[in-house]
Amino acid sequence: MLKQTKYQKVVLVGDGSVGSSYALLMMQQPVMDELVIVDIAKDHSEGDAIDLEDTQLWGKPKWVHAGTYADAKDADLVVITAGVPRKPGESRLDLVNKNLNILKTIVGPVVDSGFNGIFLVAANPVDILTAATQKLSGFPTNRVFGTGTSLDTVRLRVALGKQLNLAPQTLNVNVIGEHGDTQFAAYSHAMVGDQKLLDVAQAKGVSLADLQATEAAARKKGGQIIGLKGATFYGVATCLARITRAILGNEDAVLPVGAYLDGEYGVKDLYLGTPALINAQGVARVLPLDLSAEERGKMLDSAKAMKKVLDDAMA
Ligand code: 2OP
Repeated sequence: MLKQTKYQKVVLVGDGSVGSSYALLMMQQPVMDELVIVDIAKDHSEGDAIDLEDTQLWGKPKWVHAGTYADAKDADLVVITAGVPRKPGESRLDLVNKNLNILKTIVGPVVDSGFNGIFLVAANPVDILTAATQKLSGFPTNRVFGTGTSLDTVRLRVALGKQLNLAPQTLNVNVIGEHGDTQFAAYSHAMVGDQKLLDVAQAKGVSLADLQATEAAARKKGGQIIGLKGATFYGVATCLARITRAILGNEDAVLPVGAYLDGEYGVKDLYLGTPALINAQGVARVLPLDLSAEERGKMLDSAKAMKKVLDDAMA
């Protein structure tokens, strides 16, 4: 249900492939009145803004323009996609220092503008950069979060939909942990309607090993896309737009995101992918999954890996 009552402004920082795909998707959304595009390539963001103006005749009218960090002053949401993308063969963690340095030039000026909204981070490594955004801004943890394992969850559901011949959105299964190599599918309690996904798969002749192969392929899909076309952007941009709609529409939607964990799964003071309740407050509540003992171990391994990278990066 849409509960928008006030003028809504989004500032997009980073007008590369992810940012501009997100901007286009947001022009089609029933939420958001104003979109400000901030990029170091000023001409490009101005060009994108006037190009995007031409997309709105059939939707909700919106004001789209290029701007600066000062525009965040009265924004509801600042979306950060700015950063160097992965090259073929690089892991997301290889980007940490380069993109942390870029992030440091963004968060300070946004906060200095008087911004009092929500930070949504998509730049990689997203779990690390989300944690850094929270630390640099000092904002409450519910008002800083990331795309986390949203895209990984989409990839897994799409692949399982093909494998099981079921609509992806009917598959209640989540990828959690790092948006990266230590992520995993929480299969043990995954459901299709009121049946366990593992039982549904078995009845269709799909074994646990088959499901694990699908999980591994979904985990590697980002790298596969980068190998083929140099970058991935439509998937993550769609996740960003979906999360934005949940915030601006005050939807109380359950979505997989990169949320601050404060004891959930036995993890403290770290951002990792998990389902959470998303509304105008940002992450209203983390909704931890009921994991098997093996999955709990994987979540702790993912947390350990992330904590080490974060501690080294912030040292
Ligand atoms: C992706 O998984 C590169 O993180 C980005 O598509």
